[in-house]
Amino acid sequence: MGSNRKVMILPGDGIGKEVMAANIKVIDWLAKYRSLDFDITEDEVGGAAYDAYGTPLKDETLADAMGMDAVLFGAVGGPQYDELPFELKPERGLLALRKEMELFANLRPAMVFPPLVEASTLKPEVVSGLDIMILRELTGGSYFAEPRGIETLPDGSKKGFDTNLYTTAEIERIGRVGLDLARKRDGKLMSVEKSNVMHSGVLWKEVMTALHAAEGEGVTLGHMFADNCAMQLVRNPKQFDVIVTDNLFGDLLSDCAAMLTGSLGMLPSASLGATDDATGMRKAMYEPVHGSAPDIAGQNLANPLAQFLSFAMMLRYSFDQGAEADLVEQAVSQALASGKRTGDIMAPGCEQVGTDGMTDAVIAALNELAR
Ligand code: IPM
Ligand code: MG
Repeated sequence: MGSNRKVMILPGDGIGKEVMAANIKVIDWLAKYRSLDFDITEDEVGGAAYDAYGTPLKDETLADAMGMDAVLFGAVGGPQYDELPFELKPERGLLALRKEMELFANLRPAMVFPPLVEASTLKPEVVSGLDIMILRELTGGSYFAEPRGIETLPDGSKKGFDTNLYTTAEIERIGRVGLDLARKRDGKLMSVEKSNVMHSGVLWKEVMTALHAAEGEGVTLGHMFADNCAMQLVRNPKQFDVIVTDNLFGDLLSDCAAMLTGSLGMLPSASLGATDDATGMRKAMYEPVHGSAPDIAGQNLANPLAQFLSFAMMLRYSFDQGAEADLVEQAVSQALASGKRTGDIMAPGCEQVGTDGMTDAVIAALNELAR
């Protein structure tokens, strides 16, 4: 059936394929029982696209993605692609999508579901009730800034280099998203950089401070060095509400925050572009923070919950379906409360299930919740 919600599905590699197949069961459930339809286009990205088309992201795939209301992404990468030239590596497909779609704001919420308090490697009192948001700048900094490369020196040895560069405008636009998010939450924004060592960090702090003075009413702004932030995240994560930081620090700190929640298999993300003034729409891609986990791929072992939670973020941020997003999140919570666990979040007294079993538990919870 036709729908005006145009979604591109890019499962990618490894467990990306399995968790996306699981996600489609949730999508089908919503279509069947909640009349929520999506007009879905599916394509390859990453290593799978390299295998099929000889490139990690075909021009046509990118062009299609640009025309969508949202892109739902799985994961990319695998050891069989390690020897490929840099530009053909699976990760380039993901990075090109982020850059070309200008998805500069990456929202990575880390929440501890009550039944998973014991799954964290940290003490229950440190993580129970945790609900923080890491806002990662996603289209600048050392991931993209020029110059970058590997060059040969006169003596025949080489130098490899990347640039960490941020402009006032880039810092302001991510800072605004941070203020906005903080305002909708507990009103606390922590700006994270290394202004003690890096010029880009000095500017980052300066611009954040000025932005907050001009537009930050109702929000308390703090500053922290990135190394200290990593330490504070494991020492006392509940001191944070929203953390705003650059591309590379955000990559590191969000993996760290993920483990607070018990597993990397629990963390969703939304990557958003600027809102179009004319249409009110914004480009968006939703993906779990975990990677393609080649070691467990194809064995029905992967935890599909971060994928489901990413889909819930899509419902909320791209389609304004807050109630349906809540429903999916509650179903995840209820499936966990039922004692079903994939291996990554297994705990004594729980029942270990595979990707299929976890998906069935979520569908069963949806059926129950929707009764
Ligand atoms: C992430 C991942 C990616 C990144 C990789 C797969 C390129 O680690 O989304 O955090 O480094 O951004
Ligand atoms: Mg990462």
